[in-house]
This record gives sequence, structure tokens and C-alpha cells, in this order.
Amino acid sequence: MKTKGALLWEPGTNSGWSVEEIEIDPPKQHEVLVKLAASGICHSDNHFDDGVIPIPFAPLLGGHEGAGVIVEVGPGVTDLAVGDHVVMSFLPACGHCDLCASGRGNLCVLGAGILGGVAPDGTHRVHARGQGVGCMSYLGTFAPYVCAPRNSVTKIGKDIPLDKAALIGCGVPTGWGSSVYAADMQLGDTVVILGIGGVGINAVQGAVHKGARDIIAIDPVAFKRDKAKEFGATHAVSSIEEAAPILAQLTNGQGAHRVIITVGVLAGDLLAGAEAMTRPGGVMVLTSAAPATQMDVQINLFSVAMSGKRLQGSLYGDTIARNDVPRICDLYRGGKLKLDELITQTYRLEDINQAFSDMKDGKNLRGVIVYDD
Ligand SMILES: NC(=O)c1ccc[n+]([C@@H]2O[C@H](COP(=O)([O-])OP(=O)(O)OC[C@H]3O[C@@H](n4cnc5c(N)ncnc54)[C@H](O)[C@@H]3O)[C@@H](O)[C@H]2O)c1
Ligand SMILES: [Zn+2]
Ligand SMILES: [Zn+2]
Repeated sequence: MKTKGALLWEPGTNSGWSVEEIEIDPPKQHEVLVKLAASGICHSDNHFDDGVIPIPFAPLLGGHEGAGVIVEVGPGVTDLAVGDHVVMSFLPACGHCDLCASGRGNLCVLGAGILGGVAPDGTHRVHARGQGVGCMSYLGTFAPYVCAPRNSVTKIGKDIPLDKAALIGCGVPTGWGSSVYAADMQLGDTVVILGIGGVGINAVQGAVHKGARDIIAIDPVAFKRDKAKEFGATHAVSSIEEAAPILAQLTNGQGAHRVIITVGVLAGDLLAGAEAMTRPGGVMVLTSAAPATQMDVQINLFSVAMSGKRLQGSLYGDTIARNDVPRICDLYRGGKLKLDELITQTYRLEDINQAFSDMKDGKNLRGVIVYDD
């Protein structure tokens, strides 16, 4: 089918997204075609434009956080049907590999190919200007239709508004799970969340769910700090320096049980500050993406080793779509998790560069592209 999509033709050059005609193939074996309601604007897609995450191919159809309705099922798909509502997750999970079988579906072997530029069978589903287009996360939600692997979609109830459900594809589970799973947060913890964007605000929601006593949000943007308070942060400050005396007073000088890093780009020198805020035995959770080839980091290794602190990576907040997408929907239904309030601004696909610019300027908790045609 012919439709439109937002493509990056020169990744790593800050040249922005080109909205133009694309052609999407019908679903092949174990794939579904989904008509999207909306796509979230996650900072990760910007990393391909600014080169923080280099990709070896072009063009790229961006977007990895969406929800919509299945309009066609490919051969071999027996458990989904036309008309089903689905969330598209940025990580597929096969359910069969050793990582899936051991409860680490966020690390499924299929995930290794999400930035490979081709569908799992090695061919292209999307074409533009007569050539194959690589799709972010096998998806490419910056288009009104997505031909997706069955293992990348999770069915949800029809009562969940699809334009809000789009955020359950990445930002909500990544942030929420960073608190709930990756940080292994405990009742009564004092926690610090560094960076209150679409991911960090959901780490705040996760910390509330886990019964953290103190939730200190750090963000240089005043609007983000106000939002953090609305979502349950007990304190909101603009820098680590400003957080330090508050933390010392709250914890009798010991520091936070968990420090979760959700800033836009993880710089190596941020670790020293995070480590200084972490109490002995505490956990630092790294959720933000750092430049892909960065090896330099500032951290006091003596202190980490001798005080039993843990550095914990967090991919997709350690969530597993088929388990956690329905769980997050249930929390939303029960009024325990905010989705509607996460969306600051909606955009048409044609305004996608404005949406990224607003994200970089700190104007949005989450911007969302809405497909209403
Ligand atoms: N690990 C994963 O699975 C996963 C999934 C999704 C996104 N991410 C990554 O998470 C990060 C956040 O994504 P997002 O969409 O929420 O980004 P965002 O741009 O919406 O939010 C980032 C926030 O960090 C704040 N910030 C920047 N520098 C800061 C600093 N030094 N101290 C405190 N706050 C600071 C900004 O003001 C902004 O509010 C990105 O690096 C993204 O690539 C990782
Ligand atoms: Zn994302
Ligand atoms: Zn797997």
C-alpha cells in the first residue's frame, strides 16, 4: 500500500525527518498490518538523527512506540485477528529463546536485530524512492500503517484509548519498569530520578507504586519539575548539587537507596554525581542511552566496590510486553497509572520536526503524533 512516512536519509547529521510517500508491503509469515492511532515521540529516535546511536544504513523509517488496530494478518498468525487492538513494543519477544524462557524477554535474541535495517527475514517491508527502507525496531511508527512481526505486538482491551496506549510501547514500561523491576525498589526507599522526560516521569509513577518514601526528581526544566510533583515526586530540584543537602537531611547523610538515570543522553561524567548520591548497598539504574561508542566514565571505583553499590542496566525497564502491557492497562483502568496526563502536545506527522524540537527544548512530557485520517 502507498502511504506516508517520516524518513531519515542522512542519519547522524541532524538533518531532521523527511515526510514523504512510502510503500508498505502486505504482511508476510508471522506478521500483521496495523493501522496506527498514534505514535509517541521518544528521545531514542532522535539519537539516530544526532548520531548518538550510529546506524549503518539509510533511509530509516523512525518510530517505535505506537498503538492501533490490526487490518490484515499474515500467514501463520493464529492468535490475533483483524479488528484486534494492539500496542507495538520496541522490543520483540519470541517466548522461546533461553532469555525469554528464563523471564528475561526484554533481552530476547530477536532484539539484536532491531537496528539492522531489515525485517527479521532479512528483506524490506517498506520502500521509498525505489529503494528499501530500514524500520526502527522492525516497526516504523512514524507512518499511519505498520507491518510488524507478530512478536512485537500485544493485544489490549478495546476500552483503552489507542492514542494513549501508544505510550505503552516504550516510554511507560521503560520508566515504570526501571523503578519497579530494574531498581528492585522497596517500600520506604528514598529514590532519586535524574531526568523527567517521557521515561523519567514513568519512573516516578513506578516509584509511587513501589511505596518509595521520598522521590527526588532532578531536571533543569521548571515545567518538568512541576510535572514530577503532580505525578508523585516529594521533591523536585534542578541539579544534583541542589539535591545533595535535601538527600543528606532525609537519609541522615546516607544517600538514596536507588538512583535512576533517565536523562536525554547519558554522559560519562554524570555517574560520579549519581554514585555520590547512592548509599552503601544502593543501586544506580542506567536507563538513558549513552553515545554508542562511549567508553569513558567518571566514577569512584573504590567507593563502588568497597560500599557494595550496584550499577544496573535497564533495557525496556526489564519489562516483558506480554506480561506488562496488560498489567499497565489494568493499572490505568483502575486509576492507578496516568496515561492521559503524560501527553503534553499532539502533532500531525507533517509536523514531526517541530515535535522533536519541542522535545529537545523540554516543552513536552511526551509529544504524540496522531493519525486521524
Ligand atoms: N533503556 C531503554 O530501554 C530506553 C527506552 C527508551 C528510552 N531510553 C532512553 O532514555 C532517555 C530518556 O528518554 P526520554 O524520551 O524520556 O527523553 P526526554 O528528552 O523526553 O527527557 C529527558 C529529560 O532529561 C532532562 N535532562 C537532561 N540533562 C539532564 C541532567 N544533566 N540532569 C537532569 N535532567 C536532565 C531533560 O530536561 C529532559 O526533561 C534517552 O536517552 C532515551 O534514548 C532508553
Ligand atoms: Zn523509546
Ligand atoms: Zn526470545
